Amino acid sequence: MTHPNPARVALVTGAASGIGRRTAEKLALDHGARVYVLDKDADAAAAVARSINAAGGCATPCVVDLADGPGLRQAIASLMAEFGPPDILVNNAGVAGLVAAADCSLENWQLTVAVNITAPMLLMQYALPHMQQAGWGRIVNVSSISGIRAGTGRMAYGTSKAALIAMTRQFAIEAGPWGITANAIAPGAIDTALSQANHSSETRAAYGRMVPMRRYGSTDEVADSIVFLCSEQASYITGQTLAVDGGFVAAGMLVHELVDRAPA
Ligand SMILES: NC(=O)c1ccc[n+]([C@@H]2O[C@H](COP(=O)([O-])OP(=O)(O)OC[C@H]3O[C@@H](n4cnc5c(N)ncnc54)[C@H](O)[C@@H]3O)[C@@H](O)[C@H]2O)c1
Repeated sequence: MTHPNPARVALVTGAASGIGRRTAEKLALDHGARVYVLDKDADAAAAVARSINAAGGCATPCVVDLADGPGLRQAIASLMAEFGPPDILVNNAGVAGLVAAADCSLENWQLTVAVNITAPMLLMQYALPHMQQAGWGRIVNVSSISGIRAGTGRMAYGTSKAALIAMTRQFAIEAGPWGITANAIAPGAIDTALSQANHSSETRAAYGRMVPMRRYGSTDEVADSIVFLCSEQASYITGQTLAVDGGFVAAGMLVHELVDRAPA
């Protein structure tokens, strides 16, 4: 797959860990983009940028706390002034929690909305004029299967990820005339620090039963899908949500004894 010509600038949020980190590495090292590694974790962002640069890529760490509501506009404006606007924007940073709907606190709700919805919206707005001028742009918003199907304890998280899918579509139809695409990725259960923190052994066993492919996905598998949506080849795909989930959202009832047989 050819990517992005090497002059492309990519901004990946939450790039210090997990899915964002693999996406930043692949965009920089496999496809030659200049990557901004945005995260609130300064040490981890610097370490990721160093390791990309040591491997021959071009990466710069950017420290921004996307939860900083009132300060966020200013932080993003400074970022754009310092580093320039991106051709590729991957809104990957997210916060997740497992809290029963009745117990979802206002603080939890507001933090989730700030990081998972408001920050991606502001970043898309800031990136838009440059992409319009360039007549090219790629936006990928990392949502979740929790934005498609309800899950226990996902009041704030699931609602925010559903909103991110809706926002992606809204943006896609307005940005389309300029050759800009906007798509969402909906990862299923993926092995990262986030899922390790949120998934109990009971949850892991439940996914083992409910995911048709019977396993967690890898950060590589999600990052490859994100990179594809950032590529030249994905030029006529916009407003879509791609589930990278081992078949979870496609599935209804799974009858294991019907399929758990060795191939004849
Ligand atoms: N891992 C999964 O199973 C899974 C499933 C569905 C969706 N997702 C989504 O994928 C995305 C990445 O998740 P991951 O599993 O790689 O998580 P992760 O915890 O490994 O990485 C998330 C990164 O985002 C950064 N971040 C968090 N809050 C931030 C803030 N306020 N400002 C700036 N940076 C911030 C963290 O510092 C971290 O580096 C998230 O949006 C998550 O909701 C993950």
